[in-house]
Amino acid sequence: MQASEEINRGREIAENICSVCHGVNGQANTAGNSVLVPHLTAQNEQYLIEKLKHYKDKTLEHHQMSLIADMLTLEDIKNVSKWYSSIKVTVQEIE
Ligand code: HEC
Repeated sequence: MQASEEINRGREIAENICSVCHGVNGQANTAGNSVLVPHLTAQNEQYLIEKLKHYKDKTLEHHQMSLIADMLTLEDIKNVSKWYSSIKVTVQEIE
């Protein structure tokens, strides 16, 4: 599969499943949700894959993320991780 195709599939997963809590662009929608929802924007791809695998295999247990990860195939995990990690951000240094 082409990288761009993987990103598009990942975006679809983000829109359909993750966006309620994490936003399509990975900026968490904390209003009305838990303040503990982390931003995912531009996070390292391997980090996202590892975390999602851990929620899925129950190395990590969380009442929301474990259920979500259960719904994802390994391919979904890779695609959605590619999507969130591909979003670019500019960091402004603090003087
Ligand atoms: C119902 C709300 C909700 C949905 C939907 C949801 N998440 Fe989460 N997610 C959370 C919360 C809350 C945490 C923090 C969990 C914790 O504290 O361990 C989290 C944590 C994560 C983490 C770990 C981040 C870190 O830095 O430790 C990843 C990765 C993640 N979510 C990805 C996803 C993906 C991908 C989807 C869609 C397939 C998704 N989440 C859908 C609520 C949600």
